[in-house]
Amino acid sequence: RTVYVNGAFVPEEAATISVFDRGFLFADGVYEVTTVLGGRLIDFAGHMARLRRSLAELAMDAPADEAEILSIHRELVARNGIEEGMVYLQVTRGAADRDFAFPPAGTKPSLVLFTQEKAVSDNPAAEKGLTVVSVPDQRWARRDIKTVQLLYPSLAKMEAKARDADDAWMVENGLVTEGTSNNAWIILADGTIVTRPRSEAILHGITRSAVLRLAEEAGHRFVERPFSIEEAKGAAEAFITSASAFVMPVVRIDGAPVGAGVPGPLSRRLRQIYIEEAR
Ligand code: PDD
Repeated sequence: RTVYVNGAFVPEEAATISVFDRGFLFADGVYEVTTVLGGRLIDFAGHMARLRRSLAELAMDAPADEAEILSIHRELVARNGIEEGMVYLQVTRGAADRDFAFPPAGTKPSLVLFTQEKAVSDNPAAEKGLTVVSVPDQRWARRDIKTVQLLYPSLAKMEAKARDADDAWMVENGLVTEGTSNNAWIILADGTIVTRPRSEAILHGITRSAVLRLAEEAGHRFVERPFSIEEAKGAAEAFITSASAFVMPVVRIDGAPVGAGVPGPLSRRLRQIYIEEAR
């Protein structure tokens, strides 16, 4: 595979990053994952808007302008022949002597991109549905910034696997924040779609925004409010959203079936609507 590192397209074996890179030493970096479907980038503008926001919140310089970042995405998709999959982008504050204080102004940020080929639209998991378990949310308090500080979500994912589940829903003050790398949703018996409002407690998912818009356009009722694991277990349906999962039904929470324990009709419909629009 070809990857992009600081200005150059190189074979992955030849790509290098400094051991002093602040992304490596301090997790001082942010990232975006954009899906490719039929060779085209989905919601690129949304991902760039969130990247700008993450950079601004951390007072980090942009590594390149947006037109350039778009052309790097396109070039990498073309070079690696990606029809369906993801483009991963990471920006860090760059390499500098190890110091908790930020490096001097003018230190060049690092920019890395690579692709992953993955069947995202024809995913068998969507037919089966996912199982999730609840874990306490022990991440830092600024989850609205998409940092590469992903150790706790990784531990939560391993906890889910140890408990024979696909993923974990994190809980804080009795309420679900989100999944390890996705936003969490439920659908009530009366058809109302519920997801947590945007705040510093969760990542503002680009897929989340798209699904809220599509649900509204299709005339479905929705409300943005937090919900508990107990409420989710008693819901008619549940699902997650992310760039890579799109809309993915959740059929079990902490071992208890959600609704009939199979992917629900509205979750399936929302997945279908999302994919149709993305295509
Ligand atoms: N994760 N919440 C968290 C904690 C996430 O890491 C993600 C995305 C989302 C969904 O955001 P979006 O719809 O913009 O993808 C919610 C990416 C896909 C990842 O880490 O691979």
